[in-house]
Amino acid sequence: MTDTATGRLHVVVLAAGKGTRMRSSKPKVLHEIAGRSMLAHCLDTAAALNPATIRVVIGHQGEAVRESQSGRPVEWVWQHEQNGTGHAVELGIDGLDARADDRVLVLYADVPLLDADLLARLTGSRAAVALLTVHMEDPTGYGRILRDDTDAVVRIVEQKDASEAERQVREVNTGILIARYGDLAAWLERLEAGNAQGELYLTDIVEMAAAEGKTVEAVVAEDAWAVTGVNDRLALARLERVYQQRQAEALALAGTTIVDPARLDVRGTLDCGRDVSIDVGCVFEGHVRLGDNVRIGPHCVLRDCEIGPNSTVEAFTHLDGVIAAGDNAIGPYARLRPGAALDSAAKVGNFVEVKAARIGERSKVNHLSYVGDARVGDDSNLGAGTITCNYDGANKHHTEIGDRVFVGSSSQLVAPVRVGSDATIGAGSTITRDVGAGELAIARSRQKAIADWRRPRKKRD
Ligand code: UD1
Ligand code: MG
Repeated sequence: MTDTATGRLHVVVLAAGKGTRMRSSKPKVLHEIAGRSMLAHCLDTAAALNPATIRVVIGHQGEAVRESQSGRPVEWVWQHEQNGTGHAVELGIDGLDARADDRVLVLYADVPLLDADLLARLTGSRAAVALLTVHMEDPTGYGRILRDDTDAVVRIVEQKDASEAERQVREVNTGILIARYGDLAAWLERLEAGNAQGELYLTDIVEMAAAEGKTVEAVVAEDAWAVTGVNDRLALARLERVYQQRQAEALALAGTTIVDPARLDVRGTLDCGRDVSIDVGCVFEGHVRLGDNVRIGPHCVLRDCEIGPNSTVEAFTHLDGVIAAGDNAIGPYARLRPGAALDSAAKVGNFVEVKAARIGERSKVNHLSYVGDARVGDDSNLGAGTITCNYDGANKHHTEIGDRVFVGSSSQLVAPVRVGSDATIGAGSTITRDVGAGELAIARSRQKAIADWRRPRKKRD
């Protein structure tokens, strides 16, 4: 809890609006930026301030909004009718366990790029009301910040209520503000809906504060993206690109070669060692760690992976839940699923699928194979088209392959089955019984030769 000279901090997040322009059956604030909902971004930013309380005001599809964040230490407040931002905050602070000098920070759940540094400037303000504002080339639609001759903020006027002269003002209200609880509660009680939208405007508290001679500070955001709200999917896409561009730039400045910062997507965390290089069109999800000198080719997807040093992931490879020890060669066009583990210098090539299987040191599965529920020892080679038949239609079974095993192309290993070390399997075999160490197993029909064979001929009519 933040216990400062100015009291504790409470955060009220507004998330009751309908989001009509998203044209979606999903609540607006559950649409995602970098794989996380806008609401989750907002709540993470709020939590970073360590407030005494976080309250989220919900309305439209509120149940879905609430369920999306189950387990978070936040309080949910219902606003069944959206009578305006003032009404929402009034409900948001209703019954709050707060003292008059505690402070209330109002956030919007649809402003996903808001950063903690900017908020620190608001929470650091000693004014009775501190507003986050921004200068916009085109301020259409926003509330304008009106100042007097001394440049003090005296009022906010909404677009629909503004005169032609007021509409010329380019400094706009982001909606995000902080005020003392006692003042705020008193002002909200006095709000009236005598405006063009017939709503209770939170912004009207600014005029009340000024009339009481209280200071209103405008904290001007330099970075307009950080305070941009999402109203439609175009804005969502634009903010996504801004977010991704910033992540790519940070990675590049930290020493990772990003071939094109405009063509990288990180939806989670990406930790890179020294001299990592990432080609265009790659998507990283969850937590991904790339060791020193790892090279990721173009158009790869990696989710929750750890790729050890000096490994190469070639183009169009899909890795999900993979642990690779290092010096591995993976792809192109490989698919490794959860539980795939590559020991050092193991290779998995094109059109190979690996699931819940460990491939030993220096072993190779280079072409067109499926290895599932299996353990392959060291220095083994699985030829093109090797398939572990792990599923009998009801249950999964395990395949155990020893060290220095050679499996000839187009062989099927019908699990459960074991192949001992140094064993050889002839190409085209269907192995249904264990193969002992050092044995050669061939399980295919013998080749026949029929001399003077005459091909069938077409009948004449
Ligand atoms: C509001 C501000 C405006 C500011 C703009 C910035 C007011 C009166 N106007 O206008 O000065 O420039 O934001 O984007 O505050 N919400 C509720 N319950 C309600 C109404 C709104 O939860 O009853 C939520 C919405 O879901 C949204 C946020 O509050 O997240 C802002 O509401 P919105 O209707 O978009 O406000 P604007 O009219 O755009
Ligand atoms: Mg509105």
